[in-house]
Amino acid sequence: MRRNFCLEPRTARTFLRWLSSFPCRPGPDGSLWKNKQQRSLKNKIRNTGKSRRLPCPAVLNHFDQQYSEELGDLWASARAVLLDPPSWQYGVMLNRFSSVTDITQILLSQGFSSMLPQTDVSELLHNSDSAVSNSPHQEGKDTLSPHFSKRPPEDVGLLPYITSHAFSQARQSERPPRFPPSSLQCYIHPHPLRFPSPAHRPGQLKQYYLLNAASLLPVLALQVRDGDKVLDLCSAPGGKAVAIMQSATPALLCCNEPDPHRRDWLAKTLESFLPPSLRSRVMVSAQDGRVIGQSEAGFYDKVLVDAPCSNDRSWLHSSDIHRGQQRLEDRAGLPELQTQLLRSAISAVRPGGVVVYSTCTLSSLENGAVVEAVLKDFPDAEVESLWGEIALPLSEYFAVISPPGQKQAEPEPSPRPPIGSASASHHQLGILVVPQPGKTWGPMFLSRIRKKKG
Ligand SMILES: C[S@@+](CC[C@H](N)C(=O)[O-])C[C@H]1O[C@@H](n2cnc3c(N)ncnc32)[C@H](O)[C@@H]1O
Repeated sequence: MRRNFCLEPRTARTFLRWLSSFPCRPGPDGSLWKNKQQRSLKNKIRNTGKSRRLPCPAVLNHFDQQYSEELGDLWASARAVLLDPPSWQYGVMLNRFSSVTDITQILLSQGFSSMLPQTDVSELLHNSDSAVSNSPHQEGKDTLSPHFSKRPPEDVGLLPYITSHAFSQARQSERPPRFPPSSLQCYIHPHPLRFPSPAHRPGQLKQYYLLNAASLLPVLALQVRDGDKVLDLCSAPGGKAVAIMQSATPALLCCNEPDPHRRDWLAKTLESFLPPSLRSRVMVSAQDGRVIGQSEAGFYDKVLVDAPCSNDRSWLHSSDIHRGQQRLEDRAGLPELQTQLLRSAISAVRPGGVVVYSTCTLSSLENGAVVEAVLKDFPDAEVESLWGEIALPLSEYFAVISPPGQKQAEPEPSPRPPIGSASASHHQLGILVVPQPGKTWGPMFLSRIRKKKG
């Protein structure tokens, strides 16, 4: 285990010491963690969490006013989670381009479980085998990037336990790809246990990416298929770009980021997670996302707009009061920027293609209101429900609501849809993951918009 567990040495030592302090191994549901061991685990988990940070009073006050109105009783429990960083959970997204057998065993032995259905090897192979060479969307790609190769796809080193027998069986299969994609694997834990961050080591791919598991939902909603041309409009630091490449093998993934420092970070992320054989499919661009819709109108199959937003988690813990005040002032301008980015994204997608808009704020002004405003300009675009596809199947892990539209007149106050309940059937602009005790993931809003075929 030690030999293949590629971590920066000091981090690995700390982690292994921590690991060896549990003589009784818990089951995946944590059911063997009892009494003393459980208390001990909790203490150690807290030690691994971030130190307690003080909230910025101005931001907290602002949130209290806005969110108690928008979320009602739900805000009190969401507030409690956001104010308690040691309670936050962390997801571990595996990198299918590295060897993950050992890391998976460690995760399982420590009570992590897979949030998404387990890999079905034959389906995975079926999907990857149909990549690019069968794609109907080949023409025009060289106009985008001189580095984009016309070569057929190489074997990109998918999960290591694929057998040639499974491969030949999969080639004969004609089953359609299934969602969620089986190659995207994320492990989560019911407790706020944080895995050590893998260090950047030149020449070696990282085995996993730590993230708020709710960040994967926009990628699931995007439904990327092999051979798609995909635009990640606001890409740095690249977590969702990495998740896209775990989900499928697009013909092109354009990762756009105008901020030079964040673009460097993005490039490092891509280098750390993707094998050289895949890099010809992935390009980094530096445009203002608001103009891409004009310059590349109708080019993409899928566009992700993971918009710059009020990041509620980090804003609440703004390091000084002036920073917090500045952020609140900036907040007023965000819906306009977000609206322009979403408009640009819809212009950049082909008829029949989809745009996923996401933020990590609870603010309805940056979420449903943006979608609603943009839809007025695009009669050929419509919102697709994510309730049955994402909210319900994953309600075991995420506290999800379907926030009502901003400008809908409600003659009578209607009860808020219960979290994770099937009864939320009214008009939906998207779904909202609200952090709750025990399900601390989020905030994350996502909306999927499809451009109708002409
Ligand atoms: C929420 S972050 C994206 C996170 C990223 N998708 C991920 O998963 O790692 C939003 C990003 O949008 C970028 N951004 C800001 N203004 C932009 C614009 N006009 N066009 C495109 N991106 C922009 C920011 O620099 C920031 O990196």
